[in-house]
Amino acid sequence: MLPDFASEYLDRLGIPSLRPAQEKAVAAGLLDGVSVLVCSPTASGKTLIAELAFLRSLKEKKMAVYVVPLKALASEKLRQFSSRNTFSVGIAVGDLDERDSNLGQYDVLVATAEKLDSLLRHHAPWTSRIGVVVVDEIHLLNDPSRGPTLEILLTMLRRLVRPQLVGLSATIGNPEELSEWLGATLVTDDWRPVRLDKGVLVDGQVRFPDKPF
Ligand SMILES: Nc1ncnc2c1ncn2[C@@H]1O[C@H](COP(=O)(O)OP(=O)(O)OP(=O)(O)O)[C@@H](O)[C@H]1O
Ligand SMILES: [Mg+2]
Repeated sequence: MLPDFASEYLDRLGIPSLRPAQEKAVAAGLLDGVSVLVCSPTASGKTLIAELAFLRSLKEKKMAVYVVPLKALASEKLRQFSSRNTFSVGIAVGDLDERDSNLGQYDVLVATAEKLDSLLRHHAPWTSRIGVVVVDEIHLLNDPSRGPTLEILLTMLRRLVRPQLVGLSATIGNPEELSEWLGATLVTDDWRPVRLDKGVLVDGQVRFPDKPF
């Protein structure tokens, strides 16, 4: 059973029921502040898991931060979260930002890892208001160029802010190890909205192993 604040939100979006990964995340304690690492296929509904975490932080009068790996993704998420008409949403990507001291006024701040790292290092006073940090595409911890920034950011956050952490990814090679490092409960699910077929391209035609040529 979902708490009222969550079911009212789903009603407003016209979502009749949770998908499997979403149900498992709620069962793991997402709405009670438990940190989770969610590993589920593409388009399985991980964004809504982030939004449910935002609702909880809003209820606790805290702010949520949604960490994205690319600036381009930040503006897409800003639009998407703003369109819910539920949260005030700000963006922090480095250039064109408002003054850092104003960024604490939002319910949800969409930020790149680099910018959040810099805000923490400059002791932006509002960082103590952060209740939840969602890291989308968290498998990028493994990326040679972006991984180190994200790893240091997560380490700083856990030491300085101690937020609820919500990691999201469709492709994690070592989910158990990563969830242990994050101090998060692992939530995995294989349900996908579109079937995935594996095939081989031969002479311009796709062949499937179950239909031998
Ligand atoms: N419970 C639900 N019922 C119906 N539709 C849903 C539900 N949850 C999410 N969706 C829809 O499913 C689509 C894909 O969701 P989403 O973008 O969150 O996927 P994702 O898991 O983040 O995928 P990716 O790994 O590619 O980022 C969206 O259009 C979203 O509105
Ligand atoms: Mg996604």
